[in-house]
Formats: sequence, C-alpha cells, structure tokens
Amino acid sequence: MKKRKNIITVAIDSPAAAGAGTQAKMISKAYNLIYLDTGKIYRYVGNLKLIYGTNFNYQLVKKKINKINIKDLNNKKLLADKIALSASIIAKDNKIRNLVKKFQLNIAYNPPIKFAGSVLDGRDITSVIMKDAMFKFFITADLKTRAKRRYLEYKKLKNKISFKEVLKNLEKRDYLDKNRKNSPLRRTKDSILINTSKLSKKASFYKIKAIMDKKIRN
Ligand code: C5P
Repeated sequence: MKKRKNIITVAIDSPAAAGAGTQAKMISKAYNLIYLDTGKIYRYVGNLKLIYGTNFNYQLVKKKINKINIKDLNNKKLLADKIALSASIIAKDNKIRNLVKKFQLNIAYNPPIKFAGSVLDGRDITSVIMKDAMFKFFITADLKTRAKRRYLEYKKLKNKISFKEVLKNLEKRDYLDKNRKNSPLRRTKDSILINTSKLSKKASFYKIKAIMDKKIRN
C-alpha cells in the first residue's frame, strides 16, 4: 500500500468510555487530521450480526464493508449498548478483523489531501494498525468513572439503561477486549499513558497537545 509522506499520524488505544473519542476529536480539530473511530466499524458489523442473526456470515460482512464509507459510521443507532456488546463478540474473529483492516489502513496512511494526517482510536491501533504512528497514546480511566460518563451519555440520548447495567456491560467488554486471542487491548511499551480519571476534557487535551507540539516543533 502506498503511504502519503510527511503526514501526522496519531494512534490511540483505550478501554471503552475512557475519553479516547473526545480526545481524538479535539486532536483532529487542532491539527487538521481526519478522524476515524474504529470502534464504529466493529459496531457496524456487530449490528449486522443482530439484524441477520443466523444468516450473518463472512461473505455478507465482506460485501457490506466494501461499500462502506466514513459517513455510514455516523449513525446514532450504533451507539446502543447492545450493539457495543455484539461488536465485542464479532471483534474476536480474526477473519472479520482482517476484512476491516484495509479500510483502516487506507484512512490512516492515505488521508484525503485536505487533511494534514490522521488520528485513529480503538483497541489495536498502537499494536497492529499503526505500529509506526508518529504519536501513540493509551488513554484510560478507572471503571467507575467510565461507567458514570457512559451512563450520563446514554441519559442524554434518552437511552433507558440503569447505571448498574452500564457498569456490568463495560466490565464484560473490558474482559472480552483484553483477553481475546486476536489483537487484544494492551498498552504497547511505546504508548504514552494518559489517565483521564481525574482530568477534565480540556486538561487531558492540554497534556496531549504539549507532547505533540514538542515533537512537531523540533
Ligand atoms: O470503541 P467502541 O466502544 O465503540 O468499540 C466497540 C467494540 O469494538 C470494542 O469493545 C471492541 O470489542 C471492538 N473494537 C476492536 N478493535 C478496535 C475498535 C473496537 O476490537 N480497533
């Protein structure tokens, strides 16, 4: 695959609801980078699984993924908790992971020319998809803080789900994501740790920005 030269590449991994998406969006705006929330691709496939049930198969995913574009991933429906859980289940399958890999690589290394680079977040971005990214971050927060944040987001969206259930589902997903055989969530040695438990969105971003500016200016 051809790679665009002299672009800024930012790879972020994080457990669910740690604030990675918020930070990635802030980074994309500040540095004019295209942003891909890779979890949305797995959610899209997880949703196909819920829709097609026993008729869900590899060929179907292949066909759908070939036609997908970044705008299809903005569907608010994909934010539902049951789709997130379904995503964590299909995400264990290496054949599916390989199908969605090309789409991610293309956005990461060949962003449209109007962008100065790319920022991707997910579970295997620093370890598999963008091993050679210019910046690598591992964003995390403790489970209770993450559950509280996610619960409030759901409340805003008028999603009827209890705090207890949000917490339980996050725990389940953490377990699935960290313990699977293929591309498990882990912090690579070269990723900078950002713990957002006690930091505001702005404070977290300033931390990241200071690190990025230092390297970009040199
Ligand atoms: O980030 P988000 O919570 O939307 O991701 C949904 C699920 O998709 C994750 O729990 C994980 O199982 C899967 N995923 C993944 N690899 C990525 C991004 C997401 O396996 N790069």
